[in-house]
Amino acid sequence: MHLNETAKHMLTGKKGRACELAMNILGELGDLYGAERMIAVSQVHIDMTLYMVDAGVEFAERMADWGGQFAVPAQLNPASIDLIHHEKMRVPTELLENSRRLESAFLKMGAIPTWTCAPYQQGLIPSFGDQVAWGESNAVAFVNSVIGARTERYADLTDVCAAITGMVPELGLHLAENRKAEILLRIADLPAQTFNDSRIYPLLGFIFGEMAGDRVAGIEGIPGQVTEDNLKSFSAAAASSGAVGLFHMIGVTPEAPDIKTCFRNGKPQDTVVITREMIDSAETRLIQGACPMPDLITLGCPHYSVEEFIRLEKYLDSRKIKSGIEFWVFTSRKTYDAIKKKNLLERIERSGVKIFTDGCSLQYPKESWNFTCAMSDSVKYANYCFSQTGLNVLFSGTRDCVETAISGELRISSLWK
Ligand code: F3S
Repeated sequence: MHLNETAKHMLTGKKGRACELAMNILGELGDLYGAERMIAVSQVHIDMTLYMVDAGVEFAERMADWGGQFAVPAQLNPASIDLIHHEKMRVPTELLENSRRLESAFLKMGAIPTWTCAPYQQGLIPSFGDQVAWGESNAVAFVNSVIGARTERYADLTDVCAAITGMVPELGLHLAENRKAEILLRIADLPAQTFNDSRIYPLLGFIFGEMAGDRVAGIEGIPGQVTEDNLKSFSAAAASSGAVGLFHMIGVTPEAPDIKTCFRNGKPQDTVVITREMIDSAETRLIQGACPMPDLITLGCPHYSVEEFIRLEKYLDSRKIKSGIEFWVFTSRKTYDAIKKKNLLERIERSGVKIFTDGCSLQYPKESWNFTCAMSDSVKYANYCFSQTGLNVLFSGTRDCVETAISGELRISSLWK
């Protein structure tokens, strides 16, 4: 692989031990995938922020102790827990200490403490065509597809190496030729009002991920008035059911203004029609385990935006959550501050909702809570919850989550009303 002078200096240790190790790891990755050269990235989104095992903490601390400094702006994905309101979350001491160790190693290397999995809704948002290195599956799908910046799907550790060197091997979705669609998903005629229900977007994303797998696919039939939050939920769902790093919504996303551009004048290898039956089946499969009445309702996977809080407050309408039900929402510090300024935070909390920053909804401290079943408006959460936490789960819309929490009875409305 061709290395410029800076990369060669890093590889031979002239820029310190952290840079040497990071460049060696990225070089191995490039060789493995046959990359021809290293390229500069303008920013990094680090996914290695959850405390999972000691090895992750030790890697971050070792790089920081060796003098590693982030060469480009590096924002952080959520920690395992809320680093500010950890008492409200009943975080055990050991988990808090390990999360703090990760926090201080990243801050020592110069990270921007965004602690959010929706970095495309705040902070340093890249522009169309920018080469970046992002981790976190929903964020990768969004930044590639909706913004049109270019990143591969960076795994833990490689994201930190990219931040330290400011470079990555040129491979995968960094290259224009790998960004054209291979297959086409066409939405069969659905009633127009179906697209007014925000549930449709993550459900379509879930089916899209299952069909596309790791192939770049185009989807036809999404109306032009799709919102940023709709695109967020589609990205998160697609990247949870498939290895989706890039999708094209024809007529919506920037690399697919029309079907010809989406397929770079070629033809789809395969065309799949998404039917109403497929959507019903997806909804059914997103109920996992017996869940007669949820005792945890959790929103904000990915992190809630200001607009989603405005909608939540409208649905709550000053009513109170039934006792015995925990109603949680996860968001970023920046959004938390924004809703606080608008007095939304106080009004929502008065209903009995708990709002957490920094953390990941799937990583809540299970040992501190005896939940039996969770309900969420996130397909990604519902898809992962049972396998990752052992908690039974069901997916429905935000309004259903609110009505269930207020009434104390499971309320699921039909998508086809
Ligand atoms: Fe974010 Fe955790 Fe969901 S990182 S996207 S809240 S699984």
